[in-house]
Amino acid sequence: MTRATAAILKPTEETIAAAAAALAAGKLVAFPTETVYGLGADATDDRAVAAVFAAKDRPSFNPLIIHLADQTAAEALVEMDERARMLAKHFWPGPLTLVLPRREGCPVSLLASAGLDTLAVRVPRHPVATRLLRAFGRPIAAPSANPSGRLSPTTAAHVAEGLGDRVAMILDDGPTAIGLESTVIDLSRPEARLLRPGGLTAEEIEAVIGPLAGVEAAAAPRSPGMLESHYAPALPLRLEAASVAADEALLAFGPQVPPGGRKTLNLSPAGDLTQAAANLFAFLRRLDASGARRIAVMGVPEQGLGRAINDRLRRAAAPRPAFPA
Ligand code: TXA
Ligand code: MG
Repeated sequence: MTRATAAILKPTEETIAAAAAALAAGKLVAFPTETVYGLGADATDDRAVAAVFAAKDRPSFNPLIIHLADQTAAEALVEMDERARMLAKHFWPGPLTLVLPRREGCPVSLLASAGLDTLAVRVPRHPVATRLLRAFGRPIAAPSANPSGRLSPTTAAHVAEGLGDRVAMILDDGPTAIGLESTVIDLSRPEARLLRPGGLTAEEIEAVIGPLAGVEAAAAPRSPGMLESHYAPALPLRLEAASVAADEALLAFGPQVPPGGRKTLNLSPAGDLTQAAANLFAFLRRLDASGARRIAVMGVPEQGLGRAINDRLRRAAAPRPAFPA
């Protein structure tokens, strides 16, 4: 691990080739996807994968997503059934991750999937991710490029802030379009299950393969102790706010915004969920730095992308574990 801050590079033929060479040498490279920036490593290299867990300070029982250039590359690693192929046909490349049984002889590091007999695979839609995957020619294991438990990065500057001294380089292609992580669906069992709401809505997926288990569970208000703190800014959050106190910052949504507060940012004045998703993490970061005591958050409808937005907000508001030394 170097102490110097990683170079932030615009993607060109040369920098993408250099990034592929760094991956081949076992180094970590941050790169843009259409959802959030990823912290990439050679998925077949145990030491490189171990370096990802170390860089993020991530518990090693939490498995990583394996990124591939196309469906053919995915078929080489996992057993894709009819449902998986239908979803791939409709939504790959795109913000959809499928959890499927590993094929026998699958070369991906067991550490990447935390020793499970399943693998989470995704074909991203971002041209830089695709070019990097093609230049590298092997699967790339990539969690979001943030320290474990913190907000996911939607710009190269966010990556540099959190992990700048832990990556070989950061490919910078501006803010990500979707702004929320991919939707994770478990297809390793007979019942298709939503594991993480994300950039592709449950409604869109259900239109292709029928009802998903776990959609209600993702929305149900759980006992706060059960909810894992994640995607967390430094300040505490207050959800479903209808007003804002003088020492609070406000994360607003829609046309009716209560007055007051130290600083207000509106996810989408028009109430558009796609725009709100794209703004969510960057706005939480800016409100975090506003000098307020707490962030008040207005309600967002529990439908479409609103499910994923609310999932992230509930986790951000969950009780925090004591800060590690
Ligand atoms: O949009 C995204 O998915 C981004 C970009 C970089 O692609 N990546 C991302 O990765 O969000 P990460 O590591 O932050 O989240 C991976 C999620 C976790 O919720 C993890 O538990 C789940 O995928 N996951 C990975 N492998 C799994 C498996 N074999 N079974 C069940 N869940 C799995
Ligand atoms: Mg993450």
